[in-house]
Amino acid sequence: MRTVFWENNELKMIDQRILPARFEVVSYRGHKEVARAITDMVVRGAPAIGAAAAFGLALAGFESRASSTGDLVSDLQKSAAVLKSSRPTAVNLEWAMDRVLRNADAVKDVLTANDLRQYVLAEAQKIANEDVEINKRMAEHGAALIGDGDTIIHHCNTGALATVDWGTALGVIRTAHEQGKKIHVLVDETRPRLQGARLTAWELEQYGIPYEIISDNMSGYFLRAGKAQKVLFGGDRVAANGDVANKIGSYMLALAAHDNNVPVYSVVPTSTIDLSLAHGGLIPIEERDADEVLGIQFHGEPIAPKNAKARNPAFDVTPNRLLSGIVTENGVIYPPFDVNLKSVVK
Ligand code: MRU
Repeated sequence: MRTVFWENNELKMIDQRILPARFEVVSYRGHKEVARAITDMVVRGAPAIGAAAAFGLALAGFESRASSTGDLVSDLQKSAAVLKSSRPTAVNLEWAMDRVLRNADAVKDVLTANDLRQYVLAEAQKIANEDVEINKRMAEHGAALIGDGDTIIHHCNTGALATVDWGTALGVIRTAHEQGKKIHVLVDETRPRLQGARLTAWELEQYGIPYEIISDNMSGYFLRAGKAQKVLFGGDRVAANGDVANKIGSYMLALAAHDNNVPVYSVVPTSTIDLSLAHGGLIPIEERDADEVLGIQFHGEPIAPKNAKARNPAFDVTPNRLLSGIVTENGVIYPPFDVNLKSVVK
């Protein structure tokens, strides 16, 4: 089953808030509910939220009462703004909205309003289908970097759940495993929302790939001890100079890997590359509710004093100098990233 799919005139998504305890699929009929689901992280992961928002825009088309294509496009623009504002860091959201709006605008004079609604839905479906195909291409390029017997430290969840299907960094691991390479994965638990412990571990069990969960602060130990040969993570936005915004903790992991000469790869579709931003300092970083940090329990008790305050930036930026390469569907990009990224983004 895909993470995000269209069925019976509804958008359906695997509810990632409750995995691995329960597997449930939730249905959406309105774009505002889809925006809320992205904010609340029912769906998460850069490519998955791009596809979800594209289907959300298709729902917006069916919600609109416009009878002319001009009015419909203007309603779609307003709905796209709502969807875009649901999460700020992953550029795939903006990318998907801009792509559908641009294409809809280009055909609006030759279609009826109802045909344009169907066209927007077909565009969303195209984005979803392309995502799976792109992930598989990335996975082939990335798997060539993985050695037989490698132990890989992986951060967050970058698998089928973070995409429409297959995955980015976890897709590389999956393809290398299918090629017969013996791989062991050290799964960063990924505080505070535990995408590693909850989602990546759940996926690896299904693929039969051996893994162990480590808390995020353990990776330096394993890297220094020579117990990991690669570090892989995804990316939510890559600036023109190759700085990568990804799940909070990626930067510390990359620092420790770099200090121990362990290669670090970010695996991203070209839709995650934002050439309009010169460097990672310009990438908007989402700060989420402090309750995500404080709201868990230890032995049935709160982990902090009742009135404790907390900070919760959801992403950090790994500077390009710490990356060995960026894996895309068009091949592996090596430094100098400011020159080489341009040539892969068509
Ligand atoms: O906050 P999330 O769970 O949406 O963050 C996801 C990540 O940081 C992933 O690593 C990223 O989206 C790339 S993987 C497809």
